[in-house]
Amino acid sequence: MRLNLFVVTSAAACLAAALTAVVLHPGEVAHAAAVNAPAYTPAGEMLPPTNYREWIYLSSGIDMSYNAKPADMPMFDNVFVNPEAYRSFLATGTWPDKTVMVLEVREARGNGSINQHGHFQGTQIMGMETHVKDEARFPGKWAFFDFETPTSKGTLIPQGAACYTCHGAHAAVDTTFVQFYPTLLPVAKEKHTLSAEFLKEEAEHGTPAK
Ligand code: HEC
Repeated sequence: MRLNLFVVTSAAACLAAALTAVVLHPGEVAHAAAVNAPAYTPAGEMLPPTNYREWIYLSSGIDMSYNAKPADMPMFDNVFVNPEAYRSFLATGTWPDKTVMVLEVREARGNGSINQHGHFQGTQIMGMETHVKDEARFPGKWAFFDFETPTSKGTLIPQGAACYTCHGAHAAVDTTFVQFYPTLLPVAKEKHTLSAEFLKEEAEHGTPAK
């Protein structure tokens, strides 16, 4: 009897805790989404997504840059996306409104400490760009921004620049280069969201999307 009472009491406590969690949770999620949503200055610059290093990591490439760079300076790039957009991608195979993707460029270094042959990333950030989906704001739904430093305001790259052309013509999902993001490519394949452009290139070059 006493034991039962204990069970009832602890069950009630659990229920109360669960209810509190339910009540608190949506607020926290909304807050996180608001924090990670893109924000702009009145002049149309993008505010820097200062916590992007705590977002979801998608990939690193080496010497993938299509911009002019100093000769003989190998570079790594790292791609991150806000967690809300990542979870939505896992469920749907494509990006929701308010997706923010960050490309961070770092110098590739060698001959460090005990390592003589490999490459590792330097501490200095050489460049940063974002790719932002904001359907109501941009005519093509997406826009690119260029940041001089990770904490400076981002300059909008005008529609028609090479960034839009290459991403539109070659990217695997919704103008983003999912073919280079190993955790996302299988999802896009399964959800059948690969772009016609990508599927055509794949068929022509015979490189299967694995
Ligand atoms: C010739 C093709 C090409 C051009 C031009 C290009 N990119 Fe990309 N971009 C890529 C590829 C390939 C990736 C895949 C990620 C990587 O480089 O590791 C990428 C990835 C990105 C990403 C990560 C999110 C995503 O969409 O996949 C951003 C942000 C980005 N590029 C910004 C830019 C900006 C800004 C410009 C113009 C100044 C630009 N890109 C021009 C090919 C291109």
